[in-house]
Amino acid sequence: MSDEKPRQFSDGASTKGDGIPVPVTNVRDQPRSNSKSRLRRMLLVSAVFLVGYISTNGLPGFMPHYAGYTPHHKHHHKHGRHLVGKAAEKAFLEVPDEKSCIKTSFEYTKKPHRAGSEGDLDTAKEFLAHLQNEIPMSVPDEVPIYSAGSPESRDAILSIPKTRKPKAWIDIYYPVMNTPLDRNLQALDDDGKVIWEADLTEHADDTDSAAGKYADAVPTFHGLSRGGDVSGKLIYANYGLKEVKGAQEVGAAGVLIYSDYRDDGAVTAENGYEIYPNGPARHPTSVQRGSVQFLSMYPGDPTTPGYPSYENSTRTEGENIPKIPSLPISAENAGKLMELLEDEEWNGVVRLNNQG
Ligand SMILES: *[C@@H]1O[C@H](CO)[C@@H](O)[C@H](O)[C@H]1NC(C)=O
Repeated sequence: MSDEKPRQFSDGASTKGDGIPVPVTNVRDQPRSNSKSRLRRMLLVSAVFLVGYISTNGLPGFMPHYAGYTPHHKHHHKHGRHLVGKAAEKAFLEVPDEKSCIKTSFEYTKKPHRAGSEGDLDTAKEFLAHLQNEIPMSVPDEVPIYSAGSPESRDAILSIPKTRKPKAWIDIYYPVMNTPLDRNLQALDDDGKVIWEADLTEHADDTDSAAGKYADAVPTFHGLSRGGDVSGKLIYANYGLKEVKGAQEVGAAGVLIYSDYRDDGAVTAENGYEIYPNGPARHPTSVQRGSVQFLSMYPGDPTTPGYPSYENSTRTEGENIPKIPSLPISAENAGKLMELLEDEEWNGVVRLNNQG
């Protein structure tokens, strides 16, 4: 930290007078997340780059490694003209094409890079190297990785309006995230005996070797979900658009979310389409992951509402996250639960366990 003492605002945030909040350090009168917090604080990395280059030198050859793209607009360099309006739009739209999209998508999805993981940082470094290769810029000896809010990061951001030279670096943010540990889903009979246990993994197929290799790289869980072990009567909430928040408000003990085949329109096995990986229809064991954060309250790191998640940011308890556990499940598992619901003999409960 610099010697300059951050000014404290009433809500705990501070700035140095240039509009960018600085990390709040040595603040003792704010609640901080403690070791008991159910959410682990982890790294999230992100790359930031400058494109002042576009207006002076024409389009950078963006993604040519993956796309085999060569800029078509060299003549614009010659005249030193800026591209504006329709001409700029046309040039921009010529950059991506189907092949390059597929290739780029493959490059960036071929290894797991869950936020906060080593793969995440590696991916950010690869993207940084890509920018440094493709856009003429001065590349420092050491990989420019800064803690967001640190003097280095702030200097880099504040230099943007003062230069037309492109520059790329990685900023590291520290939002809270949960890590999935144990999860189970069981159906019990009247006597509490387990009559069915869900398989919560997605089934890979050797036909798609890349997917098969990493089948369980991102376990089926909800980002920012509450941990807990709850049991209760099963209720089908139809197309529960308000999802976890709505269920919590009406007193549900837990929530299971699955993606119904009707979300896939006509592209279903029922309509004769082959199932992935042999065709476009969804695999019955596939599970839609996602965050159960209450975006309607506020987005972003739950513990730093309205402010960036710097390493030393003051933290709140987090108000925009559920108080009840939830799990995302496959359509196959949902089908089994529907069968149970229709079974008049079954009068038991469902047990949902989400530990993370
Ligand atoms: C956060 O605080 C620690 C301990 O005081 C310090 O070492 C670190 O540099 C601070 N991080 C930032 C980004 O200011």
